[in-house]
Amino acid sequence: MPSTFTSVPGKSILFGEHAVVYGYPAIAIPLDSIAFKIKLLPRPTEKNSMIINEALGENLVFEELELQHTYRTAITTILHELKLNKLPLMEIRLSSTIPIASGLGSSAAFAVCFVRALSAFLGFKLSNEKVNEIAYQIEIFQHGTPSGIDNTVIAFNKPVFFKKGYPPEFLMLGAPLNLVIADTGVRSKTKETVAQVRKFKESDPLVADEIFQKIGDVVERAKTELENGNSYAVGSLMTENHKLLTRLGVSCKELDHLVDVSLNEGALGAKLCGSGRGGNIVVLCDEEKAAHIKTMLQNNGSTHCFISKIKMTEGEA
Ligand code: PMV
Repeated sequence: MPSTFTSVPGKSILFGEHAVVYGYPAIAIPLDSIAFKIKLLPRPTEKNSMIINEALGENLVFEELELQHTYRTAITTILHELKLNKLPLMEIRLSSTIPIASGLGSSAAFAVCFVRALSAFLGFKLSNEKVNEIAYQIEIFQHGTPSGIDNTVIAFNKPVFFKKGYPPEFLMLGAPLNLVIADTGVRSKTKETVAQVRKFKESDPLVADEIFQKIGDVVERAKTELENGNSYAVGSLMTENHKLLTRLGVSCKELDHLVDVSLNEGALGAKLCGSGRGGNIVVLCDEEKAAHIKTMLQNNGSTHCFISKIKMTEGEA
């Protein structure tokens, strides 16, 4: 068994987070400038398999992990799907530049990367569909009721129009997207934010459904504008989406502040991305304004900022 190296991108939800959990559509894009990486090496002469994550200071013996441990459930799920009952002796080295709990897909990237890496190491050549299906099961262990958009955009590494329970539709962007991603530095757990929205929906179903419906409409309009390459319309729909997420209660003062700074500095649109209550915003702007907006966001409280250009996609589903 030769060593393998696998890398998958992060992601940003451009439109439709939260509403997507309730069956409305959403749009997400892969972010290649951040990545989750796994290196697998055989250890045939050792007694145990090791899992090493230097960034988190982890040096773990696989066989000693609790049954519910994230690494253990991921490996058990993959082995079960591959109809194998034992992990061969190996070393698993994890590394990531995707910040944790900040809306950029760290947990889905972990799941997709683990499935792709381990299956390849064990001699299986899985389709993207199969990788995605297994990664979704791992996401369920971690989050309870994920919509599946995060693992889908990462597994296929393409902009996606996603509706829970339907095959993903890949988007052909009519123009490149110049994005700035800016971190509030505030961390929040997807599971908790999704639970908060569920409570809101239970206590005020009419208002929650009205907001979801409006988000769904924004997503449908955004799909057309993205395909037409109309960045001005895409930007203003992003800002509209942010306002609806604020009404849903998943923004926070740090996110709103960074959105305001971006718009004041000439962005075409800005919104929180992912589950919210912290994490990152995604800003759409003209290419020549990206560096300036990035600097202004850094000067106004963002703890980490980067520019990401999403290329136009050539048609292929
Ligand atoms: O914050 P993230 O990257 O985990 O994104 C969550 C997106 C939600 O729509 C809030 C939940 C989901 O399962 O789609």
